[in-house]
Amino acid sequence: MDAIECIKSRRSIRAYKKEPVPEEVLIKIIETAQWSPSYKNTQPWEVMIVSGKKREGLSALLISLLERGEPPCPDIPEPQSWPQTQQERINRLYRMRAEATGVDLRDPEMVKKAKMANFNFYGAPHVIYLYQDSSLPLWSLFDLGLFAQSLMLAANAMGVATVPQAFATDYARYIKEFLGIPSSKRLVLGLSTGYPDLESRANIFRPDRVPVNEILRWAE
Ligand SMILES: Cc1cc2nc3c(=O)[nH]c(=O)nc-3n(C[C@H](O)[C@H](O)[C@H](O)COP(=O)(O)O)c2cc1C
Repeated sequence: MDAIECIKSRRSIRAYKKEPVPEEVLIKIIETAQWSPSYKNTQPWEVMIVSGKKREGLSALLISLLERGEPPCPDIPEPQSWPQTQQERINRLYRMRAEATGVDLRDPEMVKKAKMANFNFYGAPHVIYLYQDSSLPLWSLFDLGLFAQSLMLAANAMGVATVPQAFATDYARYIKEFLGIPSSKRLVLGLSTGYPDLESRANIFRPDRVPVNEILRWAE
């Protein structure tokens, strides 16, 4: 698969097979992502792959926190409002996903169900957490985003599916404690990872993109 095909065929997968990904494949994915660029080559990323009993325990913990109504405590706050352009794209995403999969995130009850699915890591055998020291500057957050995309592309090239999940960091304080990640770290992203269940209705829908002329300007 060439780079263009790898980028264009990557998609967020929300139903997985139980079969774990071999450790050497997971290591190769992370080792590949390490070749991402970073500000002054600071490489401001740390990774924890959670599998097996620890993954089950973490999922149970997150679901119990949600069920008892514990307020989320993410290290990166959930946005409360969006500029009109982005809000319109979110509305379109929600409308199209509801039509295709029946999951309608405009309905608060469905949001709770969707969070449950997120906290079950969509049935994936692994969740990969990306974090960094909280004292790092905003550029390091940018660098971690590059790392995350490289990770997802490397995984895609090896037939491994992912979904980046802000929701998987909702209870950052509890997650860090459970996984032994120091509280001084900023938990940035969780990625459910595994082999895709392409038969599942959850994976039918693929969001589109705005036409390129909507985001591209030329200056000559
Ligand atoms: C920073 C970030 C946070 C995201 N959080 C979630 C999440 O919590 N749960 C989820 O199911 N998808 C999440 N997504 C996936 C987006 O919904 C998805 O990337 C977008 O709709 C485009 O679809 P695609 O990845 O299939 O191209 C997140 C994506 C990013 C980049």
